[in-house]
Amino acid sequence: MGLKVHGIFLFVFVLWVSVVVSSRSVTYDGRALIIDGTRRVLFSGSIHYPRSTPEMWPSLIAKAKEGGIDVIQTYVFWNGHEPIQGQFNFGGRFDLVRFIREVQAQGLYLSLRIGPFVEAEWQYGGFPFWLHDIPGMTFRCNNEPFKFYMEKFVTKIVNMMKTERLFYPQGGPIIISQIENEYMNVEQAFHELGPPYVRWAASMALGLKTGVPWMMCKQDDAPDLVINACNGLSCGETWSGPNSRNKPSLWTENWTNNYSFQKYGTERKIRAAQDLAFTAALFIAKKNGSYVNYYMYHGGTNFGRSASPYQTTSYYDMAPLDEYGLVWQPTWAHLKELHAAVKQSAQPLLYGRYSTLSLGNLTEAHVFQTGSNCVAFLVNANLRGKVDIQFRNNKFELPARSVIILSQCNKIIFNTAEVTAQSYTRSSKVLQSLNDASKWSWISERIPDLTGAKFANKLLDQLSTTKDATDYLWYITRYNSTSAGGNQVLHVESDAHVIHAFVNNMLVGNAHGNDQNPSATLDAKFVPNKGENTISLLSVMVGSPDGGAHLERKYTGLHTVKIQGTGRNSNLIDLSNQAWSNQVGVYGEENKFYSPEGSTKANWKGILLQNSRNQPLRWYKTTFDMPAGSGPFALNLTSMGKGEAWVNGENIGRYWVSLIAPNGQPSQSLYHVPRSFLKPSGNLLVLFEEEGGNPLEITVNTISITQQRGIMDEQPIPIYFSYQLENVTIGL
Ligand code: GAL
Repeated sequence: MGLKVHGIFLFVFVLWVSVVVSSRSVTYDGRALIIDGTRRVLFSGSIHYPRSTPEMWPSLIAKAKEGGIDVIQTYVFWNGHEPIQGQFNFGGRFDLVRFIREVQAQGLYLSLRIGPFVEAEWQYGGFPFWLHDIPGMTFRCNNEPFKFYMEKFVTKIVNMMKTERLFYPQGGPIIISQIENEYMNVEQAFHELGPPYVRWAASMALGLKTGVPWMMCKQDDAPDLVINACNGLSCGETWSGPNSRNKPSLWTENWTNNYSFQKYGTERKIRAAQDLAFTAALFIAKKNGSYVNYYMYHGGTNFGRSASPYQTTSYYDMAPLDEYGLVWQPTWAHLKELHAAVKQSAQPLLYGRYSTLSLGNLTEAHVFQTGSNCVAFLVNANLRGKVDIQFRNNKFELPARSVIILSQCNKIIFNTAEVTAQSYTRSSKVLQSLNDASKWSWISERIPDLTGAKFANKLLDQLSTTKDATDYLWYITRYNSTSAGGNQVLHVESDAHVIHAFVNNMLVGNAHGNDQNPSATLDAKFVPNKGENTISLLSVMVGSPDGGAHLERKYTGLHTVKIQGTGRNSNLIDLSNQAWSNQVGVYGEENKFYSPEGSTKANWKGILLQNSRNQPLRWYKTTFDMPAGSGPFALNLTSMGKGEAWVNGENIGRYWVSLIAPNGQPSQSLYHVPRSFLKPSGNLLVLFEEEGGNPLEITVNTISITQQRGIMDEQPIPIYFSYQLENVTIGL
């Protein structure tokens, strides 16, 4: 009897589960994404899982949810998952399934941008470097080898999501996926190989039958069924809209920094909360937008070598959640209020009749009306000057660049230009100074010579030689001087970012490029020995490129080396095509000086002597204890120059404090160390310093925010821009 009742109960339960599960659906029409038969207006926030730690994910997602975010959007980072062909990594910060499950556990949806090209200021745009070496490879066009590997990876990800039951119809949170990324920016460079690739990518993706829609961002001719989405600063003004009346208006990237994500040598440009809210509301009003994603909602940290050229490790630090996951105010709260006002108006927005009315120059009303429900968005798109208007017998004052949202078309529920949320200040406090010289030790990096060298009769492309496994490539050659003494000039041209030049083991000069002119050019005086001299040039890539057409053809590293003599030796000697030897990476890297095991095998010099400071190409090591408390913390590296830093073997990223921004300050002094990288005591800190610096002034700082009355220094009075149609970059 008991068994029978149990059996019936089980049967009913299974039936119920299957009805519930099979009723889960995501479709779309010309107005919105439709989840379980209901149109939805959705706010979405980009959080890239490898830019934070699994320990941080729950709180980041919770804060996004509290900020009125419905969807977490992420790219999938192919080179993080398959760094070596056929060898996969889905653990730690690359545990994609764990990240998606966390989103699910908190009741949010997920937008999965598989790419697999992602750009994202990420190393090689997300492509693993081995892809470059596949014979006959041309990335991102109608090229059979590329399509083969792209399909293989995309299928692997989709199958993994299916196996884990993560697509929405299966009970999971994924409601939409993306194939490719802003392909239209480069399509013309591929001539006749572009359009068929777009059609192939769409049909390949659709063929994978995920059960949820696919989108392509910045692809105005996205083939049928695939939704074309907008990226930009103000899609309400710059976008021509969906390419079919049956597709909804989706905005996949509303950039939360003012166009320039931060690079070394630049100042940070904050995008005001008012501007973000204005553009989001305008998109909803003017384009019938029903999905707005903030890129980034949390930028996080570019750990290790994951960043593209010149990127600071701090990524979109002024997003609604800052690099450390702290709320960035008033942005976070202002957007939260916008989200609530829009949600409150969802019914007329999604189901109402739409009409628009001009109220004057760049001043408009956008009205959505159902029988009993009405919402109006009153827009003043003028850059300057408030406008007084009359709308349906009521008078309203519209500040410059503002949208006000009227519930029942008469009551103001939100004004994008009026920030009522409190500002916060972020501060960093020194917890520990690592100034005890007896706790530091050091090793000089080896300057390679030509012992046992193999030669090539030219300067090799850097990334092809290093396989992008290190920032460093040595180029070494012989130079015979017919005389001794007298200055000569070593002239090096490159497509590298930094050059350190040594003659006969002595540093003769360094050079670097910058954000605007990335390639370094060096002119260094030196005094040769008579007869044979060894020239050793260390070429440094501060990140591999992440975009443009024909990424696979981009030359990197040194391309011209000449010597200009003086006096009787005044001929210009071109060494570029003579015999050159290479060393991939630096010695300490190869021997893992930075790891807990490798560091014990290295031959460290005991005490940090005065004269050992400020020396180029030097490894430094110390240990420190975990700071107390629970907040985030960072290392202040202001006293250092340029290099990489590791904590307990984890690469916290490339630091570069000597490249000063126009305001005379380093672009970044504080370098995030997630708590999960640490143990209570004896944490190993290793730095590889290229230029020379003073490690004794490094401090361990806590980062915290405090509420502040009035306007916060860092949140500027908004400067508004008039957004033009964005130029498309075609690349090579
Ligand atoms: C977009 C691109 C993103 C990211 C962004 C700037 O064009 O799709 O991946 O690079 O620009 O942060």
